[in-house]
Amino acid sequence: MFYKASAPGKVILFGEHAVVYGQPALAVPVMQVHADVQVSDSPRPGIWIEAPDIDLHAELNTLSSDHPLAAVIHNLFFALSIDPFPSLHLNIDSTIPVASGLGSGAAVSVALIRALSTYIGHPLSDERVNDLAFEIEKLHHGTPSGIDNTVITYARPVYFVKGRPLETFKAGEPFFIIIGDTGVAAPTKEAVGDVRKLWMEDKGKWEKVFSKIGEIANQARSTIEKGKTKELGELMDQNHALLQEMAVSSPELDKLIQAARNAGALGAKLSGGGRGGNMIALVTAETKKTVAKSLTEAGATHVIITKVE
Ligand code: MEV
Repeated sequence: MFYKASAPGKVILFGEHAVVYGQPALAVPVMQVHADVQVSDSPRPGIWIEAPDIDLHAELNTLSSDHPLAAVIHNLFFALSIDPFPSLHLNIDSTIPVASGLGSGAAVSVALIRALSTYIGHPLSDERVNDLAFEIEKLHHGTPSGIDNTVITYARPVYFVKGRPLETFKAGEPFFIIIGDTGVAAPTKEAVGDVRKLWMEDKGKWEKVFSKIGEIANQARSTIEKGKTKELGELMDQNHALLQEMAVSSPELDKLIQAARNAGALGAKLSGGGRGGNMIALVTAETKKTVAKSLTEAGATHVIITKVE
């Protein structure tokens, strides 16, 4: 028997960090990158994991229980009351850069939960997959909002408010986003932890900043739905300025953002946890190639052009 599942990457268009504090945020799947998991029967006893991207070739029991992949498998089998564990072989590949704000961890969790649950004859609903992936995010990220696992599980543009039922949105007119990678790995957990420290020191001040970001996300949603996408650029710039105030940008991100604006992007901002990882810029069919070129010249290690519809 053999089963395969995939999950896309994601970018946050508006509202990262503030979303952890209950503000709305917008995120879209990025289908050009993905995590893929194959499960097949194993002739040897045990759960054999091959994840060449992270140079992992091991049997489950040799991994510590807090290893991200071990945690997914243990949690899933516990939730489904699978005991003893079946013998199987797992192949895990991902084209999503790690610690770059594109949701690599959540995508591997989602693909692994789907592939394993279907293989053992318990296919799960998207809601259940999302809940299980969120449990894993909590183990590794401390206080995640749940936006990453949600946009990746449903693979649709989402308007996300922590703890509220899923809302999706549709662009009135499709638009292009360029994603530029600084090449600097920056774990989300650290940036989220540092923002929490700021908030603990002066809740009043930072809650005002978070709610300004929430207003921008709401404005952006209605702008996108009405198809007035050119106005989004200004909202991206405003959102980025507030993220800079929260000290989650970095010289590398700011350099790429400036390069995109100089090359004709309508707006640009960091995307995800920040400190490194990816930035996004709003471009048109006419400017997308020039902006992509100038991002590469400014040091982007990887550039993706994606269409939001
Ligand atoms: C990470 O992609 C987005 C953050 O807002 C964290 C979260 O929402 O859990 C920085």
